[in-house]
Amino acid sequence: MKVLVTGHQGYIGAHLVALLKERGDFVAGCDLGLFEDCGWERVTPPDREMRADFRRLSERDLEAFDCVMHLAGISNDPMGALDPEITRSVNAKGSISLAETACRAGVPRFLFSSSCSTYGKAEGAALDETATLAPVSVYAESKIAAEKAIARLASPGFAPAYLRNATAYGDSPMLRIDLVANNLLACAVAKGDIRIMSDGTPWRPLTHAKDIARAFVAFMLAPRERIFNRAVNIGANEENYQVRDVADNVRKLVPKASIVYTGEVGHDPRDYRVNFDLLGELLPEFRLEYDLESGMEELFRAYVDRGFSAGDFDGEKFVRLRILRHRLDRLGGEGA
Ligand SMILES: NC(=O)c1ccc[n+]([C@@H]2O[C@H](COP(=O)([O-])OP(=O)(O)OC[C@H]3O[C@@H](n4cnc5c(N)ncnc54)[C@H](O)[C@@H]3O)[C@@H](O)[C@H]2O)c1
Repeated sequence: MKVLVTGHQGYIGAHLVALLKERGDFVAGCDLGLFEDCGWERVTPPDREMRADFRRLSERDLEAFDCVMHLAGISNDPMGALDPEITRSVNAKGSISLAETACRAGVPRFLFSSSCSTYGKAEGAALDETATLAPVSVYAESKIAAEKAIARLASPGFAPAYLRNATAYGDSPMLRIDLVANNLLACAVAKGDIRIMSDGTPWRPLTHAKDIARAFVAFMLAPRERIFNRAVNIGANEENYQVRDVADNVRKLVPKASIVYTGEVGHDPRDYRVNFDLLGELLPEFRLEYDLESGMEELFRAYVDRGFSAGDFDGEKFVRLRILRHRLDRLGGEGA
């Protein structure tokens, strides 16, 4: 297959390129390189690399691909608060225009990296794809706007699908420690305590970054009618956790670490449990490779083996917002 991955230098994209290359697909990547100097270990290069803003790709650039996997985006809630217009421009307007271009270029399949955070705050039962969306951030709103507009392009020649990914965690060549599970474990390893910024009660579905990448591959290979214009939650029912469960998991790996409730954000409004039955119905052969325990064990070994330090924890490299503050100009912003 000929595949274009946008955001291929990101946390999930780095896994995805490696998986596609292992399969023998031809992989082109398009990335602005916002985090190019933030690698944690060697990244598998694609066959063709476009260092470009995906918002500038033309029909010609997209011709002849069997599938576009669109992961490039501003993947950060606080960034949406810092500069809402950039998040809207990249994640919503830019994604819609890329899908339109792909559609005109005759790309048969377009996979959009959406998010379970579109569900926002919801008490009670786990939410399936029919649930009312109640976004609590510009980031989540931008994903909903993109899903809705891209859905209008669906046609016999153009099959979009929306992978509503759970919050990612786990090791990746392009590590991030601004994701809840990675952050708690990083802090325990580097500083000896587990700092919970909320009251620990919010629910969050978690999925290993590599399993999200594996889902993209499964969606590329699935019979068209199964995924056609579908929004599908990516994760597993057993992988909904309260933040305090994640802290307990970290404590098992770093028994000396103490759990500290900093209370900085009070009760986190991002609080939801998600139902993943549809994924099993549509792609019964697809299974997550990791659960939180195995994924965190692997990450723990990586932190220890590579000497993850307090400097790494406090530095900029692994925290998207800290880097983006200096690089807003690359996305058309004012800079901070
Ligand atoms: N990480 C998660 O927990 C999570 C959960 C659900 C959905 N998602 C979505 O999955 C996708 C990938 O997430 P990630 O964690 O790998 O993010 P990331 O920040 O690690 O990677 C995003 C990549 O996109 C690139 N990029 C950003 N704007 C661009 C532009 N205009 N043109 C070209 N490249 C651009 C960046 O340089 C970066 O390499 C995002 O769309 C994100 O919203 C992520």
